Amino acid sequence: MSLFCWLAMVAFIPMTLSTEPGVKVRLTAKGLEYGRQLGMASLQEKLKTIRVPDFSGKERVSGIGKVRYSLSNIVITSVGLPTSAVNLVPGTGVKMSISGAFISLRGNWRVKYLFIRDSGSFDLDVKDLSISASIAISSDATGHPAVSSANCAANVGSAKVKFHGGASWLYNLFSKYINKALRSAMEKQICPLVTKAVSDMNPRLQTLNVLARVDKHAEIEYSMVSSPSVTTSFIDLNLKGEFYNIGNHQEPPFSPKAISLPPQVNNMVYISLSTYTANSAGFVYNRAGILSQDVTDDMIPRFSPIRLNTRTFGVFIPEIARRFPGLMMKLVVKAAKDPVVTFEPDNMTVNVTGTVTAYAIQPNATLSSLFVLNLETSVSARVFLSGMRLGGAVTLNKFDLTMGTSSVGEFQVKSLNSIFEMVLNEEVIPALNVQLAKGYPLPALRNMNLLNTRLQILKDNILIGTDVQFTG
Ligand SMILES: *[C@@H]1O[C@H](CO)[C@@H](O)[C@H](O)[C@H]1NC(C)=O
Ligand SMILES: *[C@@H]1O[C@H](CO)[C@@H](O)[C@H](O)[C@H]1NC(C)=O
Ligand SMILES: *[C@@H]1O[C@H](CO)[C@@H](O)[C@H](O)[C@H]1NC(C)=O
Repeated sequence: MSLFCWLAMVAFIPMTLSTEPGVKVRLTAKGLEYGRQLGMASLQEKLKTIRVPDFSGKERVSGIGKVRYSLSNIVITSVGLPTSAVNLVPGTGVKMSISGAFISLRGNWRVKYLFIRDSGSFDLDVKDLSISASIAISSDATGHPAVSSANCAANVGSAKVKFHGGASWLYNLFSKYINKALRSAMEKQICPLVTKAVSDMNPRLQTLNVLARVDKHAEIEYSMVSSPSVTTSFIDLNLKGEFYNIGNHQEPPFSPKAISLPPQVNNMVYISLSTYTANSAGFVYNRAGILSQDVTDDMIPRFSPIRLNTRTFGVFIPEIARRFPGLMMKLVVKAAKDPVVTFEPDNMTVNVTGTVTAYAIQPNATLSSLFVLNLETSVSARVFLSGMRLGGAVTLNKFDLTMGTSSVGEFQVKSLNSIFEMVLNEEVIPALNVQLAKGYPLPALRNMNLLNTRLQILKDNILIGTDVQFTG
């Protein structure tokens, strides 16, 4: 590698290693509790699938000699997981512990001793079953969250076998051997099932929309940029949260700032969307060249006395009336820079620096440029949720017009304020709101619904507090 290449690489390292997320998803203790309920329901189903194989053995019973026994058709009749807990382990993941669980089984027994044959059924009650396992949470190679279990331990506290039918003096002699054999057969199967129950969560986690399509221009990347942060009270997933042009991922000239979330715990999940995410949207749409709108007279309400023609404008700029009499006009309102979004408590503002170009439309449809004005606008935005999408609507706060270039001489820009206020309020902003109302997809897993949702605008981010529910 040449020195130049090496220097170039070193220069780029701080950028490529920037792992501040644009979006943070926080799972609170309440969210973890919902996860525990789902996990226990899944584990309970898994434990019902325990298969205890038929088995047989011989034991030397003192005073009697060799007794052969066999157990068959062993089935689980019930499983209960009454007490369980999941606790956060800072830096790693969660620790799951189950205590006082029970499993009941039923089967048939058969005994052979010399010429004596006897048989019947039995019930086995496994009680005080305890299971503990660590669940590590990480990010997989494609930026999806992933879980795995480690250090699983299962312990059967007591197991009680009750035989039915046959001669009790006989089976009581060796019930402790059977008891032990059944216990170890059970213990051996529990941890593999726990591991399976944990890894079965991964297909669902894989449904995180790491590349969420917005529209024909943009997509949002929600892949994880770093390992989850696990503290004693929450798990934070750090997502990229960046808009990109579809098929042309170009980084904007700004980077995310650290997001700090308020210590809210009433909802299961908090999703924080930063200024970075919002500004990356502005960067992408401006780059796509679509932050532009044409306004023509047919778009102006019929009852309006203000018309987009050289007669109306000629009142303020006499040279227009003189040089372009009796023509219709067209205005092109266009962003000149990437819009700047600001989040302050309860206030989302978007500032756009742009231009307004006015044209006279010649009878042969050629456009004659009349003037270009510089436009500074500030709009207030309201945001709302619609399903799994975040929509918005803006209203005009303020705008300021200054002279850019003119081919119709000098004129008082301020005299056109009421015309442009109407154009912005009646045409440009409503058209923008139609787009904003379509909404932007939030990070989500398949079959996830939001409920008890609360949306707040805080300093530097929008915070969505929500409970979640999976339907299937
Ligand atoms: C939000 O802040 C902007 C500028 O900081 C201000 O012009 C606007 O009136 C505020 N909007 C609301 C709804 O308070
Ligand atoms: C259209 O009309 C204008 C004004 O009369 C003239 O300057 C221009 O050359 C015409 N353009 C074409 C393509 O005919
Ligand atoms: C946006 O515009 C408003 C009104 O002109 C101004 O008060 C505010 O400082 C601007 N914000 C940014 C980030 O430029």
